[in-house]
Amino acid sequence: MANALIDRIKRRQCLKGYTTFKEGGAATMYAETTNQEELQEVLDYGKSQGLKIFVLGKGSNILVRDSGVEGLVVHIPTGAFNKIERRDELVVAEAGVSLPRLIHRTTEWGLKGLEVLVGIPGSVGGAVAMNAGGRYEAIERWIEEVSTVGYDGTLHHYKKNELDFQYRNAGLEEEIILGASFRLEKCSREEIFRQMREVYEEKKRTQPLSSKSAGCVFKNPSGQSAGALIDQSGLKGLKVGGAKVSRKHANFIINWSSATAVHILELIQKVREVVKKQFGVWLELEIKVW
Ligand code: EPU
Repeated sequence: MANALIDRIKRRQCLKGYTTFKEGGAATMYAETTNQEELQEVLDYGKSQGLKIFVLGKGSNILVRDSGVEGLVVHIPTGAFNKIERRDELVVAEAGVSLPRLIHRTTEWGLKGLEVLVGIPGSVGGAVAMNAGGRYEAIERWIEEVSTVGYDGTLHHYKKNELDFQYRNAGLEEEIILGASFRLEKCSREEIFRQMREVYEEKKRTQPLSSKSAGCVFKNPSGQSAGALIDQSGLKGLKVGGAKVSRKHANFIINWSSATAVHILELIQKVREVVKKQFGVWLELEIKVW
């Protein structure tokens, strides 16, 4: 591996500043990669050292344990993989583009589709990997193609029908998303803005958007809302250390005062146990625990 790259691989890198939860320990090894070649080299290095790979984008759906992450965290830093291109109604975005920026740009272009995802904070890579979405629809609805690099270094270009999108999962295990293309629809900017404002106002009213959190903690059980079940269990405001079940939306846990991962995990466990007792449903995590 090139020396310059070895120099950029750090040991014991604290991840607290890289997640929206703002908690957690250090990664054994950590590398920032700003282009495809670096990514492949870093993956090669990880393989040669037998390191488990963790992919970090904007860190908006991750809980890092206090003991840290044993493996190689590959980070796409802000500003890398950041291109957006347009060919008529087709928009191609690299994985590091922030989803809010992509939504803003496509709205400016008078292209309809992604505006209902307003309020979701992650990167395009993270949003595609998680099949991010909400009440209206998930990002898969608009995807045409996805490019990835496998942990073994091979490049892939998938057409949508080759992918198996599920609720909050694109099925792309052991692959890092490089970018995706979206087939959108022409529409008046005013109409798109109106729809976007409506969704955003609703989210602002019902979700703690400015608190430190990782969004919804649990997946919605089929036909039900995890938030409603937690709320009806009387758990809003429940605290463990610095972690609290949001009073605005019960499926959000917020780091209100220097929460550690232990606080958050203990709170998650309590919520699951109470909801199981009340409703007989064991809530599945939507967030990833590293
Ligand atoms: N509800 C309550 N109490 C609460 C929260 C919700 O009673 O504390 C009720 C609401 O009143 C509503 C129902 O539960 O009747 C559904 O609530 P909401 O519309 O907020 O939707 P959700 O199913 O809780 C989903 C996504 C959100 C997304 C919203 C809006 C999941 C797990 N959550 O929430 O996504 O923002 O729809 O589109 O799929 C995320 O993925 O991180 C996330 C926040």
